[in-house]
Amino acid sequence: MSNPPRILVTRKLPAAVERRLSRDFDAKLNETDSLLGSERISELAAGCDGLLVSPTDDCGADFISSLPDSVRIIATFSVGYDHIDLEAARARGLAVTNTPDVLTDATADLAMLLLLGAARGAVWGLDMVRERSWPVWSPTTPLGIDVTGRRLGILGMGRIGQAVARRARGFDMQIHYHNRKRLPAAEEAGAFFHEDIADLLAVSDFLSINCALTPQTRHLINRETLARMPQGAIVINTARGGIVDDEALIKALESGHIAAAGLDVFNNEPDIDPRYRKMDNVFCLPHLGSATPHTRDAMGHRAVDNLQSFFAGRTPGDLL
Ligand code: DGY
Repeated sequence: MSNPPRILVTRKLPAAVERRLSRDFDAKLNETDSLLGSERISELAAGCDGLLVSPTDDCGADFISSLPDSVRIIATFSVGYDHIDLEAARARGLAVTNTPDVLTDATADLAMLLLLGAARGAVWGLDMVRERSWPVWSPTTPLGIDVTGRRLGILGMGRIGQAVARRARGFDMQIHYHNRKRLPAAEEAGAFFHEDIADLLAVSDFLSINCALTPQTRHLINRETLARMPQGAIVINTARGGIVDDEALIKALESGHIAAAGLDVFNNEPDIDPRYRKMDNVFCLPHLGSATPHTRDAMGHRAVDNLQSFFAGRTPGDLL
């Protein structure tokens, strides 16, 4: 029997996934979960056939060109792949796979948590309780923002955007969306399509960002686009921090034009813009979209499925 393919796994993965990797591959695991950095990953990749990376690994063009020739596939433990230079990978003949589908529900659940938390004052409410600054119940103050019947704009109506829409319908929200392509009527399920992003923003009492980070969407939410949103709108981001221009969002939050934000993803994680930490109308979470044991297991198994298909000579299900 020939030797199993050698796989470098850059981060610690769920136990069941690591067991499977060790059983089916010659796996080099990262037991301490230390952040290796591009240079170290290239060194450790010597003699490896594939890499199993995560969104914390910068797989840009320089990294890809530094990889040993033995590496033939990069499987990422994430649906997002903005950390991988796909063009550079393809030019080198490297296969790249991601883990769609399995984190859709967990991420959409979290988007709803952010939406409700931002609207109803989860941050200032929790602060009042924790800091014992809760005076007494009052008919007039403090107050949050209603969700029922409001318009939810979804930027990017892929799997996660559609799952957010399904949940928001349960709160009687009216769904609007922008997507590169209009969905078929059955998938649209009554949602209003806006071909132009500006038109979507103009009707978005709430905006849920669910598109991928690409050169085209970097800082798509900026001073001009935020200005198109209704006064007192709320911005939710479970996609990627880079889609938002922090300076513009913070200014809009300070001015009250944007009443609140619910953010799970940030530019420069975990060293986020410190102003977010101080704003009581910003409900921040530390990139928890897919963070449940069930989902993380499923992501790992999906990445391993892709590696197995590839080394068995089949096209991996999630080939990008
Ligand atoms: C992804 O999969 O892209 C997430 O951001 C990590 O959960």
